[in-house]
Amino acid sequence: MKMIIVGMGKNREIGANQDMPWSRALRDDLINFKKLSSGKSVIMGYRTFESIGKKPLPNRQNIVVSREPTGVEGVLTAYSLEAAYALAQYDVVVMGGGQIYADAIDDMDVLYVTEIDAEFPEATVFFPKIDQTKWQETSREHHEIDERNTYAFDFVKYERKV
Ligand SMILES: NC(=O)c1ccc[n+]([C@@H]2O[C@H](COP(=O)([O-])OP(=O)(O)OC[C@H]3O[C@@H](n4cnc5c(N)ncnc54)[C@H](OP(=O)(O)O)[C@@H]3O)[C@@H](O)[C@H]2O)c1
Repeated sequence: MKMIIVGMGKNREIGANQDMPWSRALRDDLINFKKLSSGKSVIMGYRTFESIGKKPLPNRQNIVVSREPTGVEGVLTAYSLEAAYALAQYDVVVMGGGQIYADAIDDMDVLYVTEIDAEFPEATVFFPKIDQTKWQETSREHHEIDERNTYAFDFVKYERKV
């Protein structure tokens, strides 16, 4: 099983200044990411690895796609996405960023997308368009703004059409 987990703004914004444009303003999204990815093999691009502090995420097999070894203990380096899939011992979670999502989306079975009800004009990194002929929305859970979350958002699951 291979899945993408991503959060995006209304214009598919995912990154700005080496961070997510909303940074840590959506606490429940961070909790959801941890819940969905724990016990799995997480695959990320080198810039995303930098953005999380060049440290492995606990309770997950960490695989960084890069042309250079990371040299960080507890992290495997793969020179290509295909090599990363081959190293994965568990279900695969592709966790960004923009380059890796664009390369990986056609290989996925499921997309877990946090659709944030806001625009982020400062964004420089975007998620590819989700092709509605290939993907079917199978669940959607709405969350309003509250003390833990600065924006309203939906947790949406897309499954590949058969
Ligand atoms: N909103 C979200 O859910 C979310 C999730 C994750 C990340 N992000 C954001 O996305 C941004 C980072 O995305 P990004 O597109 O700039 O970078 P990225 O995809 O995280 O990393 C790009 C790097 O990965 C390596 N790479 C990518 N494709 C490769 C391939 N096919 N073969 C070998 N190496 C490959 C290269 O590393 P080398 O140069 O070392 O070879 C490349 O420079 C940040 O702002 C981050 O906060 C957002």
